[in-house]
Amino acid sequence: MTTTTHDWLSYARRIAACGSADTLAAIEHELFGRKAGILTIALKEVGALSPEERRKKAVEFNEAKRTLSEAIELKRKTLASPSEDKLKSEDGMDISMELPPLEQGHLHLIPEFIRSVEEVFGRMGFDVMTGPEIESEDLNFNLLNIPPEHPARDAQDTFWIDQKAKNSSNEKLVLRTHTSPVQIRYMQSHTPPFRAIFPGKVYRKDADATHSPMFHQFEGLMIGKNITLANMKAVMITAIRELIDQKAEFRFRTGYFPFVEPGLEVDMRWQGDESESREGKWLEIVGCGLVHPNVLKNCKIDPDLWQGFAFGFGIERMMMIKHRIPDLRSFYEGDLRFLNQF
Ligand code: DAH
Repeated sequence: MTTTTHDWLSYARRIAACGSADTLAAIEHELFGRKAGILTIALKEVGALSPEERRKKAVEFNEAKRTLSEAIELKRKTLASPSEDKLKSEDGMDISMELPPLEQGHLHLIPEFIRSVEEVFGRMGFDVMTGPEIESEDLNFNLLNIPPEHPARDAQDTFWIDQKAKNSSNEKLVLRTHTSPVQIRYMQSHTPPFRAIFPGKVYRKDADATHSPMFHQFEGLMIGKNITLANMKAVMITAIRELIDQKAEFRFRTGYFPFVEPGLEVDMRWQGDESESREGKWLEIVGCGLVHPNVLKNCKIDPDLWQGFAFGFGIERMMMIKHRIPDLRSFYEGDLRFLNQF
């Protein structure tokens, strides 16, 4: 028996060019019809061929069957979905029109940075807690070893609140001048050993390129047995390198804070401003030290058993160095040309 040669490609072309469901059904019938379908017959007749021919043709026919039925299915789906032109004329809608670029909001760079602070300190085992922005005089000052006449109070130009606290003590209230009162809250509510950080907003009567009446800090505290300045330096250096720059240039220098003894400050090389006057200036970014025994005692922690360190980072200043931002006030102006860079 001789075999007919089939031009399968021409069927594929007809399917692709077909513009209506009826024509498609006709082609399908021509190929796959139960009695007279070309492929149906071809496949039926394969059995009568010589073994060698049979193998060759079976491969060809099965391949044609698979490809053509897939093409028919695909075409059926395309014909069933409304065309662009149809949509355009029926709904007056032009679906080919290009969409404006999708504007997606994102976190402001400060809360985003605080997330990375929590992540970096989280890896070092630090817990996170926040405290209120309106604080009592006791927590903001007294319990931190800053009694009423202490000169350190002047260094933090305080916003006092007219209203007194509603509790029996009739305490004076302040907008907290630093995040340090959250250390006290943490020590009052936890038993050592512990390590934690306390991010948040703080307020001072101060405004220029490196100061703002509201800014952000994160405080840190680690209390345990045999904790030394060396541990503190290791944590400070890790934080600075991870959060600002692996090659950050910084220096430790002694500093005075009533709630630590000894106290240290860390400065970083300021690179945010190209103007000559600021070139090479050092900017203080963190105060730290070993927690003063009086502070531990104020929180009912025995300083003969427990020691540790505390630190307070200025968030905007860290970011000014990291991103070379010359003026701290840019953080709060809500200018999208600035904010969209981050
Ligand atoms: N509270 C200080 C400030 O706002 C910063 C600070 C210094 C915090 C030393 C600390 C510390 O915990 O040990 O200027």
